[in-house]
Amino acid sequence: MYVKPSMDKLIEELRELKRRAELGGGLERIKRQHAKGKLTARERIELLFDPGTFVEVDRFVVHRTTYFGLDKEKYLGDGVVTGFGKVNGRLVFAFSHDFTVFGGSLGEMFGRKVVKIMDMAAKVGAPIVGMNDSGGARIQEGVASLEAYGEIFKRNTWYSGVVPQISLIMGPCAGGAVYSPALTDFVIMVDNPATFMFITGPEVVKAATGEEVTFEELGGARVHATKSGQAHFIAESDEEAIALTKKLLSYLPSNNMEEPPYVDTGDPPDRVDPELESIVPTDPMKPFDVRDVIIRVVDNAEFFEVHAHWAQNVVIGFARIAGRTVGIVANQPAYMAGVLDIDASDKASRFIRFLDAFNIPVITFVDVPGYMPGTYQEHGGIIRHGSKMLYAYAEATVPKVTIILRKAYGGSYLAMNAKSMGADIVYAWPSAEIAVLGPEAAVRILYRKKVRTMKEPGKFIEEKIAEYKRFFANPYRAAELGFVDEVIEPRETRPMIVKALEMLENKREERPPKKHGVMPV
Ligand code: HXC
Repeated sequence: MYVKPSMDKLIEELRELKRRAELGGGLERIKRQHAKGKLTARERIELLFDPGTFVEVDRFVVHRTTYFGLDKEKYLGDGVVTGFGKVNGRLVFAFSHDFTVFGGSLGEMFGRKVVKIMDMAAKVGAPIVGMNDSGGARIQEGVASLEAYGEIFKRNTWYSGVVPQISLIMGPCAGGAVYSPALTDFVIMVDNPATFMFITGPEVVKAATGEEVTFEELGGARVHATKSGQAHFIAESDEEAIALTKKLLSYLPSNNMEEPPYVDTGDPPDRVDPELESIVPTDPMKPFDVRDVIIRVVDNAEFFEVHAHWAQNVVIGFARIAGRTVGIVANQPAYMAGVLDIDASDKASRFIRFLDAFNIPVITFVDVPGYMPGTYQEHGGIIRHGSKMLYAYAEATVPKVTIILRKAYGGSYLAMNAKSMGADIVYAWPSAEIAVLGPEAAVRILYRKKVRTMKEPGKFIEEKIAEYKRFFANPYRAAELGFVDEVIEPRETRPMIVKALEMLENKREERPPKKHGVMPV
C-alpha cells in the first residue's frame, strides 16, 4: 500500500530536486564554463536581478526526445533558466541559456520555456532580457528544434515595440540562432574568445569560399561592435554586460503604454553653460566632438552612448534632461566630417524608431555637410538607406526637438529632422548655415559657364562665395520663413530644450489609419 510521505520528507525531496536542477550539466561542465571566463546561467541570473526577487519558472521541465540515446540523458530545466524578478525595483523577465546542458542547445521544451516567459512579459508589459550562450538548434531534436526557434522569432517580432527586448551574447550564437537577438532592440556582446555570432562558421566559410578566418575574426564582439553594427554595446566580461543591461533598462519604460521613468538628477533645468560658445568653431570646415556639446546640455553630463564604435559619423544614445529620458541623435564632425552614409543612416533611423515606439523624445543636434558621395555608397543603396532617416523622423510622433549647431545642407538638412519633416521645435545657433549646398559647391554650379569664359576667375569666385555666405551662411533666411522657430545663444541650449519638452509634454499627433507603413529597408 502506498503511504504518502510526511511533509518533511516531501520538502526534502523538493529541495533535493532543486539542488539537482541547480547543477545543470554537472560540476565538471561548470568548471569548463568558468575556465572559458564565462559565468553559469544561474550566476548570470543572480547578477541581473535584485537579491531575493527572482522567481524561476519551469525549473523541472525536461525534453521528451528519444533519438540518439537522449531518453537516457535528461537535465532538469532542459538547458535554460527562465523566470521573472526585479531589476532596480522594476519587473523584468529573463531567460539564460545553460551551456553546461547539451551546449545550451535549443530543443522543443527549451523553446517552450522561453516562449512562455516572453508571453508573460508581453501580457504584463515588462522587458525581456535574453542571455545567449548556445550551440544553436539541438541536433538530436531535428525539426522540433527549428520550429521552437520559429516560435521565438515570431514573438520577438510580435512584441517588438510592445516591451523592450535586450539580448546579451555571452557565448556561441550561430546559424539561425542569431536571428532572435537580431530581432531584439539591443545586443550587448561580451568580448571573450568563446563568444561569437555568425550565420555560418569558419569551416563552412572555408569550404564555400576558400577564405580562412578565425571565430573571433568572423563574428567576435569587436567585429560586431565596429564593422557589422550587430552589437550595440561591447563588454569586457559577463559582469560588465549585465551592468550595462541594468543601466540601459534604467532609461526605458517597461512597455509602450508607459512613459520613461523619471529620475531626480539634481541638475537644474535652467542651467546655462557659457563654455558651449567656444566648443563649436564658427568655421564650418573645422572639426569638433559633438559629444562635448551633448554632455554640457544633458543632466550631470551623463550620456549613455549606443553603437559607440560603429558608424561614428553619427552619435546616438540616451540621456536625461530635467530627469526625463531623451534619445540623442547627432552628427559627429570629428569623424568623416559628420557626413551621412549608409551605416550612419541605418544606425540613426533604427534608434529613432525605437525611441518613438517607447515614448522617448528625440533631440537632434545638426552639423551635417551632406550625404556621402561616391559609387561605393550609391551602388550600396545610399538612396534607400538614407531615406530611412526621412521615414523614421516623419513617422515618429514623440516630441522632436532639433538644434542646428552649424552646417545643415541639402537632403541631409531634411534627414536631420527639419521643420517640414515634423520637428516640433527647431532652434538654431547663430553659427548655423542652412542652404541647398555648401558655398564652394553652390558657386561652382551657379557660375560654371561664366567662369569658363574668364581668364582669371579666382577673384570672381571668391566674391561670389562671400556673397553666398553673407546670404545663406546663417540661420536668418530659415528664421525669416519660420523654418527655425528661434535663434538661440549656445549657452541657453539646455534651458531652451527643457522649455520645449515641457511644452510638448502632452503632445498628441495622429497619422492616417493603416495596417503599417512600408519602410525602405
Ligand atoms: C546538441 C550540442 C550542440 C547542438 C553543442 N552541443 N552544440 N548538442 N546540439 N547544436 C553539445 C556538445 O555535444 C557537447 O556535449 C557540449 O554541447 C559542449 O560542446 P563542445 O563542442 O564540447 O563545446 P565547445 O568546444 O565550446 O564548442 C562550442 C560550439 C560547438 C562552437 C558551439 O559545440 C559547435 O560548433 N556546436 C554546433 C554548432 C552548430 O552547428 N549548431 C547548429 C547551428 S544551426 P558534451 O556532452 O560533450 O558536453 C542552427 C539552426 C537554427 O542553430 C535555425 C533556427 C531557424
